[in-house]
Amino acid sequence: MMLIKPPRLPLAVTVVEDEPMAQDVLVRAARSWHFQCQTANTAEQALDLLVTNPTPIVVTDLRMPGRGGLWLIREIRKRWPDIGIIVLTAGDEPEATNECLRAGAHHYFYKPIKLDEFRHVLETTWRTYREECDQSDLRRQLEHAVRKQTRRVRRTFLSGMTSLVLTMEERDPYTAGHSRRVRDYALDLARALGIDRKQRRLLSLAAHLHDIGKVAVPDAILHKPGPLTEEEFAIVRDHPVVSERILAPVVSNRSVLAGIRGHHERMDGSGYPDHLRGDQIPLFAKLIAIPDCFDALTTSRAYRDAMTTHEALSILREGAGQHFDPEFIRTFVEIAPYLESGETRSGILVKA
Ligand SMILES: [Fe+2]
Ligand SMILES: [Fe+2]
Repeated sequence: MMLIKPPRLPLAVTVVEDEPMAQDVLVRAARSWHFQCQTANTAEQALDLLVTNPTPIVVTDLRMPGRGGLWLIREIRKRWPDIGIIVLTAGDEPEATNECLRAGAHHYFYKPIKLDEFRHVLETTWRTYREECDQSDLRRQLEHAVRKQTRRVRRTFLSGMTSLVLTMEERDPYTAGHSRRVRDYALDLARALGIDRKQRRLLSLAAHLHDIGKVAVPDAILHKPGPLTEEEFAIVRDHPVVSERILAPVVSNRSVLAGIRGHHERMDGSGYPDHLRGDQIPLFAKLIAIPDCFDALTTSRAYRDAMTTHEALSILREGAGQHFDPEFIRTFVEIAPYLESGETRSGILVKA
């Protein structure tokens, strides 16, 4: 990513003064100290000038016809927080001067104009402007470095998690490739439903890592050929929550986490872990649930052979409304004959 930073302004000042003599004195002096100058006779005129040609410093008289210096200070602060403001004031209005400082002016000096005072505030304001520019450059560079590092850590973590899922599934011939197939089928379903590419990238991540929480389920339970006891089933039912917990520190996208947590919810509220129903179930959870179940049915298990696509789809159809979103099931049934194998597809880049 390219580092974008606002351009630094040159050594220049806008002099806002309605008395021609005073304006002339200020401009001549500033030019002799190598400042470029532009002038305005009123606050309104100064604002117009600054819009087209901003300067790092504005010197403004406090009392002028029209809206006056205080209004100008407030307007400059709203639009250009970096511009340094110096107020030229008569010595007999301390309250108004304080008001200007509260509104965001940096310095003031008194009429009648003394050039050494003017030079001092002008140079101090310029120095402050330069230092603030340096600091914000540094801050921007630091933020950029931190963002880059965070992205790198996240990528490394996610690819580690993907390998972990792969290893976990490969240990059991019945589940090998499950997460990859669920991801591929979920993406086909999302594409058929017209879900945009950005959402599909997030869905890809959620679907691929939906069962990562199974690392917390002991092999003896995970690969048990017979029926599970109530306690064992409780441990298995915890895996969506564990998946969410593992990924939460690096996956900031809420839809991804919600999709993972909710992939065993059912439309009638009988699912887990939160017993959500109908529209409460997050979009990604609904999109993962169908391919998840389809893949479980169409791969063989220790206790049964794999079903045919036709058999699996008729079971999914029966679950429309109670278990699955009926519209999503309709679409899935339509695309099922054309579902691609993961090996033939180029993976969608993971980003969350
Ligand atoms: Fe699961
Ligand atoms: Fe699964």
